[in-house]
Amino acid sequence: MIEKLGFAIIGCSGISSKHIEGIIRNYKDANLIAVCDLYEDKMDEAIDNYYNYSKENKSDFNEEVIKIMKNNKIKKYKDYNKLLNDTEINVVTIATDSGTHPGIAKDVLNAGKHVIVEKPMALSTKDADEMIKLAEKKGLKLSVCHQNRFNPVIQKLKEAIDDDRFGKLVHAVASVRWNRNDEYFNKDAWHGTLDRDGGIFLNQCIHYIDMLFWMMGDVKRLTAETDTFLRDIEIEDAGVASLRFRNGAIGLIEGTVCVYPRNLEETFSIFGEKGTVRLSGAAMNKVLDWKFADAVDNEEEKMKQGGFEKVNIYGYGHNLLFKDVIDSIRDDRKPLVDGREGKKAIETILAMYKSSRTGKPVEFPLGDYSTTTGVE
Ligand SMILES: NC(=O)c1ccc[n+]([C@@H]2O[C@H](COP(=O)([O-])OP(=O)(O)OC[C@H]3O[C@@H](n4cnc5c(N)ncnc54)[C@H](O)[C@@H]3O)[C@@H](O)[C@H]2O)c1
Repeated sequence: MIEKLGFAIIGCSGISSKHIEGIIRNYKDANLIAVCDLYEDKMDEAIDNYYNYSKENKSDFNEEVIKIMKNNKIKKYKDYNKLLNDTEINVVTIATDSGTHPGIAKDVLNAGKHVIVEKPMALSTKDADEMIKLAEKKGLKLSVCHQNRFNPVIQKLKEAIDDDRFGKLVHAVASVRWNRNDEYFNKDAWHGTLDRDGGIFLNQCIHYIDMLFWMMGDVKRLTAETDTFLRDIEIEDAGVASLRFRNGAIGLIEGTVCVYPRNLEETFSIFGEKGTVRLSGAAMNKVLDWKFADAVDNEEEKMKQGGFEKVNIYGYGHNLLFKDVIDSIRDDRKPLVDGREGKKAIETILAMYKSSRTGKPVEFPLGDYSTTTGVE
């Protein structure tokens, strides 16, 4: 067994800082070997981030670790194909624009390396299926960055579902009422495009949608309306869907980036016979309501105050997802958010597009569908 897994990051802008943090926080098991981007300055920025991170978070690391990080010589690759031949690299994280995820992920898997890919894993069910099959055939791990699943509040909510504390589940709602203006969409060429971004549900709302299935199980049928109302983009800027889950419960998805004048709120709610939970926050870790018929010891107050959260070296979010992938490699088990889990949100969002484009309800499984299917 390799002492430390060698990591490489492809895509060195926005979210890559969370990947760097995820590698550093798992320093006992992971080492950043290389970064890759089309632009030299982006790679340099990412490497600076790496060196500065341990300095800025000194109290979390001992001197020896800081020294090891300081002396780590990180390689740079402009062409990710060259990185694939680097035998020091065991795990590749993909933080490029969304439309490039499947092509890069398949190349990485074919090169015999494990993959952590940003959400959404793909913009078509076909690509998602190919990635899943390839990882399984090669015996490699494929994990999708739905990092909110690791938040302590979300873990507690999952426990409540698994322990049947809600009784009969009635309905669940994922609602994202945000503002992204034309300036945001014009910032990068890929934002707001059908084949490189996918839509606000695949980009902005996906974490909330992912949580619906983790909590409520698979979807049976959905009906949706999506449209482009205010933004100058190729995709929807708002939409709604009603769902029937296989367990009989119903659900609602509401997403918009058109709220005037700025982000208003985001909520995730589950209503059952004996329980009501309502969460908020971009990372879904703020408790608005936590009511159970079997509640003890001021449980709701404690949940609202966040006093149950155990602060540890791994912190939150991507760090814990990276830890889970490392453990899944070491223990040869599935990561919590493997390809099959990552596909669920995509299948649902693509089913929303299909329902809206055809004006009909969509039964699951969806079959082949992509962001561009049926678009002239
Ligand atoms: N998990 C989350 O909460 C979260 C949050 C933000 C973004 N994301 C996802 O992360 C991905 C990246 O988002 P971002 O905001 O960091 O994007 P970005 O545009 O800021 O960065 C993408 C980087 O990838 C590089 N790149 C593109 N193609 C490449 C290639 N073939 N080889 C090497 N480098 C390449 C670009 O040069 C750019 O530097 C998106 O899929 C987005 O949906 C996830």
